[in-house]
Amino acid sequence: MRQTRVSAPSNIALIKYMGKVDPALNLPANGSLSMTLNQLCTYVEITETATATRWLAEAPAELPSGTFSGAVRVPKLTEAGILKVIRHHERVLAAVFELFPVHGLSLAPITPVEIRTANTFPADSGIASSASSFAALTFGTALHSALDPKAFTKVWEENLEFRRSFAKVSRQGSGSSCRSFEGPWVLWEKGAAAGLITPMPEMVDFVVLIATGPKPVTSTQAHHLVQTSPLWEGRTERVAERLKTVEAALGEGDIITLSRVAWAEMWEMHSLFHTCSDPFTYWEPGTLKVIKWLAPYIQEGGAEGSELTPPIVTMDAGANVHILVAAAEATKWQTILNKAFPEFEILQDTQGTGAKVLPALTKPVGTS
Ligand code: DP6
Repeated sequence: MRQTRVSAPSNIALIKYMGKVDPALNLPANGSLSMTLNQLCTYVEITETATATRWLAEAPAELPSGTFSGAVRVPKLTEAGILKVIRHHERVLAAVFELFPVHGLSLAPITPVEIRTANTFPADSGIASSASSFAALTFGTALHSALDPKAFTKVWEENLEFRRSFAKVSRQGSGSSCRSFEGPWVLWEKGAAAGLITPMPEMVDFVVLIATGPKPVTSTQAHHLVQTSPLWEGRTERVAERLKTVEAALGEGDIITLSRVAWAEMWEMHSLFHTCSDPFTYWEPGTLKVIKWLAPYIQEGGAEGSELTPPIVTMDAGANVHILVAAAEATKWQTILNKAFPEFEILQDTQGTGAKVLPALTKPVGTS
């Protein structure tokens, strides 16, 4: 039985993808910019089967334990969610027929498959699980379709255009997933995402987990709703300006500017949620507590008496707060965050470089 096992990380946007000009293709109303994560990821296992292609609510076998105590969560998918996974698998299969011949790759016989997925973080936690899920499903399906997986991996690693073509296909499954194929810093404009070369120091992301229950509004619904807010007007232009500022700041390794712009962008996106035609909020009391505590660190000159560089604070469509800091200051941040918020679990991850092939099973599938 042929089996393919991959992982793809989530990513955290400083400039947000919020609002679409083409919902069918997930074409964004504005550019976005993110940092690719590492161990906050989705594992996907694709196994040939004799029956029909289906998604199973089971974890893939023998996963690397990583820093999250080896605890992986199988997402709870609705019928519609499962259908979206199967449709995306088919979308990637259609793409390999076009893309493989151009890159001298041969196709494996296409058979029905069983798809198993698991995340290293709680779904619905404001860590973009759709980003890592669709990136992993895209990469896994493409790799599984290759007659010679080693030849595929070589092209994948050496040819950025090949990888970016699959990022475009992934975008159609879930927009933010197109930023999980490179890293650490990725800019997504119009249809395509590409990594940026920067002198930024190695970064760490702390995620203060305030709520992990189902979200009141999915991010797909939010993309539509934000356009009904009176604050929507001028957003495309504002984001274009912010992107220029952020690109320049990344080019100079200027964390202070990134901190201020990300803070403004986080408030703007959540203000759009709070002021749309059917107002909603992802904020919980704990969110406000964390944000109030962080505010003095963002101000000019940093928090009084603190030697620490201002953190880059942001939130996705969820209640949880991401705090990005230079790895060199991560231990100090870990200590003060744990002291300030003993009631909340705080995940910690580093920057990453995108989707990866997982090590082969020690006991291959189909053997007993
Ligand atoms: C708030 O990529 O989840 O995380 O394309 O409809 O699947 P779909 O939306 P999705 O939106 C992510 C929104 C966000 C901001 C961001 O990651 O840029």
